[in-house]
Amino acid sequence: MRTTISVIKADVGSIGGHTMPSARMLDSVRSAVSEAIARDLMVDGFVCHTGDDIAIVMSHRHGKGHPDIHGFAWDAFLGATGIAKMYGLYGAGQDLLVDAPSGNLRGAGPGVAEIEFDLLQAKHRPAESFMVLAADKCGPGAYNLPLFLAFADPMYCAGLMLPQMIEGFRFRIIDMDNTAGDSIIELDAPEDAYHIAALLRDNERFGIDAIISRSYGEQAAAVSAQRLHSIAGKYTGKDDPVALIRNQGIFPAPEELLSPFVKAHYVGGDARGSHVMPLMPVPLNTAVTGAYCLPIVSCIGFSMEGSGRFTDAHTDFFANPAWDEVRRRAQQKAIEMRSQGWSGAAMLPYSELEYGGFRDTVGNLVKRFQIETGPDGGGAEPGSAVVHAAR
Ligand code: 13P
Ligand code: 13P
Ligand code: MG
Ligand code: MG
Ligand code: MG
Ligand code: MG
Repeated sequence: MRTTISVIKADVGSIGGHTMPSARMLDSVRSAVSEAIARDLMVDGFVCHTGDDIAIVMSHRHGKGHPDIHGFAWDAFLGATGIAKMYGLYGAGQDLLVDAPSGNLRGAGPGVAEIEFDLLQAKHRPAESFMVLAADKCGPGAYNLPLFLAFADPMYCAGLMLPQMIEGFRFRIIDMDNTAGDSIIELDAPEDAYHIAALLRDNERFGIDAIISRSYGEQAAAVSAQRLHSIAGKYTGKDDPVALIRNQGIFPAPEELLSPFVKAHYVGGDARGSHVMPLMPVPLNTAVTGAYCLPIVSCIGFSMEGSGRFTDAHTDFFANPAWDEVRRRAQQKAIEMRSQGWSGAAMLPYSELEYGGFRDTVGNLVKRFQIETGPDGGGAEPGSAVVHAAR
């Protein structure tokens, strides 16, 4: 049976700063999901939060980008926004960037990751299991390095040497700065690995949109690779991406997919979306309340019945104590980077500072610079000239 998993997430308000949504907001989204299951809009649904972002995981039969599913998520987020407003929460409705989306939510603010496939039909896919990654305080490029390593480097995923994966994976990479539409290039690992790396090294511009098995044509991964500032034309918060990844069998195993997150690699984000800080793996439903405003990522796993229903429980991968060691390293890396404050590599470059106000501060100062002229009209004598501030 054709089945689609859709993960749609948005930040529509949080308590005491950009920390977490309120229980009332989550309850309202959960009851909307229950009601949607009861009227057969979707087969199953799950609601959770990572930092201040609420994610809805849905299984259904409508295909990708369907207006009913996207419209449902929009309305559920609008409902939670109403509660956030009623209780005076911070950033109420932050990620709902348009008045009324035209069916598909891509380009309207919420992050969307979707995969459609034949559920339990193919011989090569006797069981369906998948993972949902949700990151807060960072951009979609945060997944570039870990997903490249998991799907293209046998040092991280030895499973790539197995017959079902040895043909490699196709990377669909999106130019997130192109606002004319989804601007995509497809490149095949392993032979195009260096070209893929040449793009993915730029986390702020290029992101992974999808990863596809070359042997079976099955989509392995989808990432919500869109940038809020490209959509809104101004700062509206960090993009805080979700990723949906099918695992096991013809795809990497969870432990292979997650091993690159041991790095706690540096990504753009953190406070005011403007620093460079490590990505810390955290249990589901973690609030952003630590020192700094560390980028965090959660990961849960589900299995699926033939009907498309999720099995009764989910796995919370980063809740395992093994990840405590990584969290300690991430915090240590954060302390080291933040000891450098605003200088150089510790903050994002000018063009990537998410708060436009930083650019206004510098822009206003740049207007006050003057070319110095000496007495003969040439260069100024060292120490003799004054830079006249045009106030
Ligand atoms: P189990 O033997 O515990 O099922 O694990 C199999 C496996 O392949 C883990 O990667
Ligand atoms: P969010 O994008 O998670 O709302 O965070 C924005 C921010 O500025 C944190 O300092
Ligand atoms: Mg927020
Ligand atoms: Mg957020
Ligand atoms: Mg955000
Ligand atoms: Mg087993």
